[in-house]
Amino acid sequence: MKPTRALALVLLALLFTWAGQLAIGYIQVGKLEPILNEETNLPNPPTPSGFAQTGARVFASEGCIECHSLSVRGPVGSADLTRGWGPRRSVPRDYLFREPALIGFSRIGPDLSDIGERMKESNDLMAHLLNPRKLKPTSTCPPHPWLFDVKLTGPRPENDAMTVITQEWKQVVPSYKAKALVAYLQSLNLGYPLPEAPLK
Ligand code: HEC
Repeated sequence: MKPTRALALVLLALLFTWAGQLAIGYIQVGKLEPILNEETNLPNPPTPSGFAQTGARVFASEGCIECHSLSVRGPVGSADLTRGWGPRRSVPRDYLFREPALIGFSRIGPDLSDIGERMKESNDLMAHLLNPRKLKPTSTCPPHPWLFDVKLTGPRPENDAMTVITQEWKQVVPSYKAKALVAYLQSLNLGYPLPEAPLK
């Protein structure tokens, strides 16, 4: 083969890869915009608070993504909706304000895209982080005690103290990281409609 022809083939191969990996992806999702909810005048998907965004980084650094995905699959070829993991499938528009977009693929534990709805109470989520077996005695989710501080109680325990060891005047309180992580988990829900994924 002539060198010029070989070079042309290599360039063509590169062009196809570029088109397949970048250009098509950009055409499909690059120009997605939030949808304005006419009633509330707020965007769908909703914008998570800065504190929840901090929590997303805790979620990533604690390795939750090694066991939990954040993407509900549609009814075709998947049982996600019948498992109750969300009211509808996840679509690219859901991740517009999620930076980083932690989609994940490992499903050792349930998908958490709608956990803010499934476990609405922040107390439940906090209790789960400290000891998942407190809410569900058979849970195999690992506890995360290092996200909590053991402090002296002083005259009385703090309002958000999880455990109080009265004899030793000690209390177990959520750290800043635990609070941010719970804010993030609370922000995860799919309960808003999008044109490409309406609520059932
Ligand atoms: C080693 C794998 C693993 C890791 C890491 C892990 N989890 Fe889990 N998690 C599980 C499993 C398995 C379950 C389901 C347990 C059950 O209900 O029997 C679960 C359940 C949960 C649930 C309850 C879900 C529901 O639908 O009831 C929440 C919330 C949760 N995990 C949050 C977290 C968070 C937050 C982190 C990171 C700080 C984390 N998990 C890290 C495996 C894991």
